[in-house]
Amino acid sequence: MKLPVGAKLTGVGAAVPHRIVTNADLENLVDTSDEWITTRTGIRQRHVVSDNETATGLAVEAAGDAVAFSGIDPSIIDLIIVATSTPDNLYPSTACMVQAAIGASAAAAFDMEAACSGIIYALAVGQQFIGSGTYKTVLVIGVDIHSRFLNWEDRNTCILFGDGAGAFVLQASESENNILATYLRADGKGGHLLSIPNPGTAYPHAGTTPPKAAHRFLQMNGRAIYEFAVNAIPEAVRAACARASIRPEELDFLVPHQANQRIIKAAAERLGMRKEQIVSNLDQYGNTSAASIPLAFADAIRRGQVTPPSTCALVGFGGGLTWGAAIVRWTAVDSRKLSTVTEQREKQQLQETNYQGEGASHE
Ligand code: COA
Repeated sequence: MKLPVGAKLTGVGAAVPHRIVTNADLENLVDTSDEWITTRTGIRQRHVVSDNETATGLAVEAAGDAVAFSGIDPSIIDLIIVATSTPDNLYPSTACMVQAAIGASAAAAFDMEAACSGIIYALAVGQQFIGSGTYKTVLVIGVDIHSRFLNWEDRNTCILFGDGAGAFVLQASESENNILATYLRADGKGGHLLSIPNPGTAYPHAGTTPPKAAHRFLQMNGRAIYEFAVNAIPEAVRAACARASIRPEELDFLVPHQANQRIIKAAAERLGMRKEQIVSNLDQYGNTSAASIPLAFADAIRRGQVTPPSTCALVGFGGGLTWGAAIVRWTAVDSRKLSTVTEQREKQQLQETNYQGEGASHE
């Protein structure tokens, strides 16, 4: 469905904790090897939070990076959506804490949860708020700290995940629409295949009885998730492309959720995409859940792999089960790279004149 106002992607950003845990480090924790992890997953290292780091802290850093990319002032942000399944608290939401920390005093803020597909769901929601004319500037963040929910004695799961945050800035535009289509799916029947039961209210006396270890840690049926993902990626990309009225062959890049290099390769082959069209930084960061797509995308832009203009399929899958894709036309230039003051002013002016419609509804 074509929305009346276009959503322009004007910024992307990312942040990871400083501490790196290599495969060799994991050899000291569980019965595994660098060789096994690298060949079965493609992961070589991951970033893991220290005791004093939080989801909010990472989200704030990624938001700052995306805001600086777009060149906006945080005071013009109308809405902050944080996709996370590992928030600092049940409430206040991570989004509210980000709102306070970055000085987005005019912004509404809420968290949403769709596990590793969260950023795709959040982009779709942000696009709807812009497309309907309700808001002009939306900050969408994906952040997860899975390390706090991993059983570090379970080699089946602890080798896969890393911590991180990624963010996008969406702005209303009368002349340009960068989110060409989205496609979201869920299948709750597969919920048990990938879950973190605690902290939840399904268990009586959750406040007084310590949770059983089985409920405290991430649970996963690796083989089943693998099969699901290899099918979900091409299905979502094809369906989103159909909605965008483009053929998958017209895509320049595939930006998949970074879970396993074998999953990415198998899914990309089914879509007929070449190696150089695949955006991946899984080897450096592991699976950072809701953060992985903007983290990989920001990295690809920094490395010069993705340059504007490019048509990209962002595609996620994960717990729920959930999956989905967004077809985006990337045209933005990093404000920090604009060399002259005149160029910076021109960009700022363009952003201010992008949308001259009614103001945000809460103004
Ligand atoms: N090191 C060494 N051996 C390990 C290991 C590790 N870290 N983890 C599992 N193994 C063992 C298993 O115990 C099994 O041994 P067994 O045959 O004696 O029982 C053997 O390796 C093979 O296990 P298998 O499950 O067949 O491996 P796999 O090739 O399917 O790879 C995953 C396992 C988890 C890497 C893979 O299934 C996967 O990536 N699944 C998707 C997970 C995912 O992406 N989750 C998040 C989605 S958002």
